[in-house]
Amino acid sequence: MRIDIITIFPEFFSVLDVSLVGKARQSGLIDLRVHNLRDHTHDRHHSVDDTPYGGGAGMVMKPEPWGDAIDAILSDVQDVPAATDAAPLLIFPSPAGELFTQAMARELAGESNLIFGCGRYEGIDQRVFDHFAVEGRVRLVSLGDYVLNGGEVAVMAMIEAVGRLIPGVVGNPESLVEESHEDGLLEYPSYTKPSAWRGLDVPPVLLSGNHGAIAAWRREQQLERTARVRPDLLPPAN
Ligand code: ADE
Repeated sequence: MRIDIITIFPEFFSVLDVSLVGKARQSGLIDLRVHNLRDHTHDRHHSVDDTPYGGGAGMVMKPEPWGDAIDAILSDVQDVPAATDAAPLLIFPSPAGELFTQAMARELAGESNLIFGCGRYEGIDQRVFDHFAVEGRVRLVSLGDYVLNGGEVAVMAMIEAVGRLIPGVVGNPESLVEESHEDGLLEYPSYTKPSAWRGLDVPPVLLSGNHGAIAAWRREQQLERTARVRPDLLPPAN
């Protein structure tokens, strides 16, 4: 998968050199490129923002640098043979976007080209989304109902969630199956050795060797935990 990121803070993404995503980059499973939006400005001050039409607090990101930065990536991507015919998908993290979920992470893991645009300030001029949605694919995506200072942290979270679903990135694919959200429920609690620690014992069923009983206990724990912590994830009672 090729991933392009446009940002005014390229240094944010140096952490993507480490851990599983870092390894996936080294092995070529993920081709990740970070672009500085300011490289696509044409004024002396490399300005990327201006005051909002209609007034209001804060600054809005100007459309021209975004247009030029995205055009440059699109023409570069089109020179590279893609695994599928699908056009690159443009993703803009935004608190006004659709909610990012495990299901969306799965969907995105099937793409061959993702382009992430990290907005700052009060957001990006709406025409950038409208323009690229005419011939391409654009999604505004929110990490949750809270406000970050910019899209960088959200993009990092999305890349980690998507990257680990790309075949070959996680060493043991079985570890992807029994996770929170994969079956719509939260994960069951996990234990390792020692069996007793600071007066707390591992639930005896896990030491029983009875695989049926262990599976039933884990399922029960998932349901109990989901009902207690995230009842919104359970289907309605009737
Ligand atoms: N940018 C600012 N807040 C955000 C959020 N909650 N999700 C995604 N991107 C954001």
